[in-house]
Amino acid sequence: MSFEIAFLPLLEEARATVAPLLRVPTNEVVFVPNATTAVNTVLRNLVFEGDVIAHFSTAYGACEKTIDYVCETTPLQSTSVMLEYPMEDAEVVQRFIERVRDVYQSGRKVKIAMFDTVLTFPGVRMPWEALVKACKTWGILSLIDGAHVLGHIDLSHLGEVGPDFLHKQLLQVSHLMLHPTAESLDGTPKAPQYLTLPDGSTSLVAARSSTFLPGTTT
Ligand SMILES: Cc1ncc(COP(=O)(O)O)c(C=O)c1O
Repeated sequence: MSFEIAFLPLLEEARATVAPLLRVPTNEVVFVPNATTAVNTVLRNLVFEGDVIAHFSTAYGACEKTIDYVCETTPLQSTSVMLEYPMEDAEVVQRFIERVRDVYQSGRKVKIAMFDTVLTFPGVRMPWEALVKACKTWGILSLIDGAHVLGHIDLSHLGEVGPDFLHKQLLQVSHLMLHPTAESLDGTPKAPQYLTLPDGSTSLVAARSSTFLPGTTT
């Protein structure tokens, strides 16, 4: 039996098992090897045309480096919203909205925003639900780094909040990325378990690094 014939039904079963915990449809659950792969999967699958990505000064280093890479290789610019703790959630949201407004007033468009559920340094819970709401109001895709969400935040309201992408650590083994708008990535339908490589081919993304298969084409 080939790998894909044996593996894919098991993968579907795993997705169906996890989906109710988050109250999201099964087809919105995607397993990826780790948090940085999740962020890279999203950012490298979007097409940028002079757009802006907004993030906070508290973003995790590896995720910020991914933004830097995409900004160097595509027509994307980044804008970083400075956070200086202690500060209130309302001020975090306010600074974000003010920055988005500034970008629009300069004639550019914020296409996507990346923010955390719980920061690495300092370990603060971010008002991610309010930030998703602001993103929806402004028509901005929301990419949430949920590396520290497990055990800290009940995510059963995730489907209701409705971010575009969120990954979270699952049992310290794999990471889980939700991909609710996979089909809407620049109008290009993508199978959720496949990652498009820069040369246009696609790779199967599996639950463990050892099963990540570069170059496996659909
Ligand atoms: C907020 C945050 N995002 C992303 C990561 C990267 O996680 P990984 O090494 O699993 O890709 C970390 C790691 O600690 C983190 O704290």
